[in-house]
Amino acid sequence: MAPMKPPKRLQALIEEGLIDTVVRQLMSGKEATVYVVRCGEDTRCAKVYKEATERSFRQAVDYTENRKVKNSRQARAMAKGTKFGREASEAAWQSAEVDALYRLAAAGVRVPKPYNFCDGVLLMELVTDEAGDAAPRLNDVLFTAEEARTHHASLLGEVVRMLTAGVVHGDLSEFNILLSHDGPVIIDLPQAVDAAGNNHAQRMLLRDVNNLRDFFGGFAPDLLSTQFGPEIWDLYQRGALLVDTPLTGHHERKAGPVDLGGVLREIDDARAEDAARRLRMQQAG
Ligand SMILES: Nc1ncnc2c1ncn2[C@@H]1O[C@H](COP(=O)(O)OP(=O)(O)OP(=O)(O)O)[C@@H](O)[C@H]1O
Ligand SMILES: [Mg+2]
Repeated sequence: MAPMKPPKRLQALIEEGLIDTVVRQLMSGKEATVYVVRCGEDTRCAKVYKEATERSFRQAVDYTENRKVKNSRQARAMAKGTKFGREASEAAWQSAEVDALYRLAAAGVRVPKPYNFCDGVLLMELVTDEAGDAAPRLNDVLFTAEEARTHHASLLGEVVRMLTAGVVHGDLSEFNILLSHDGPVIIDLPQAVDAAGNNHAQRMLLRDVNNLRDFFGGFAPDLLSTQFGPEIWDLYQRGALLVDTPLTGHHERKAGPVDLGGVLREIDDARAEDAARRLRMQQAG
């Protein structure tokens, strides 16, 4: 394909020799525009962050809380919303994704390999399908029940691995997971939070795990009654979560005033056991 005229935001990277040509625009999302670029022999992905003003605001209080800022002047300016402060939050937002990618790649989580971060552009591995084209999102693919259970188990394993590395994705869903030729790849991490230092980490972890359950449960309804979220968080909080900790898919709910049906719970248990067995098989394999 003939290269396109490079957009202005990629010009600097071309001048610095970080990329050679721009092949095409892949997607324009809420927070970034993503391009396929060539760097020597390699095809890569360039994520160009939008300016705060053009961006729909996902960076709610959840995400910024406890984000580490370099100094107190910066922190005060960010709180006051001065121009210096806005620029500092902007940079913190963008570099949060880069930091998370490096941290997770080092922990063995399947994320795109980061190459460079320069002038608000993240250069990373292009996640591809069997044909070498940009991989589809999970949302664009149909699964058999069996495939859904397999991917659900392997992605739960990734969530656990992330948490043991101290990171909660915070926006994990079928829209932010790509299906590459070698399985699911987790993307889009600017809102990732520090599991230990953020009061919203638990809520975000539970939401991430529920999103996986609901999406794959659409193909394999037996997953819908599993309780992996609370189980994982409970183990994490007790300092008992390791990458290979066996999970059951059950979680002891605190006894309420009424016990809502031990029978239903037993049915759930049987389903959860099957999901847990698959997870063990994943971890073993
Ligand atoms: N490393 C990559 N390899 C292949 N495709 C990618 C990669 N990164 C992003 N994409 C594609 O670009 C889209 C947008 O990327 P991303 O989700 O990171 O940005 P975003 O601005 O948050 O988008 P959205 O608002 O759609 O969530 C993804 O859905 C995916 O299709
Ligand atoms: Mg996204």
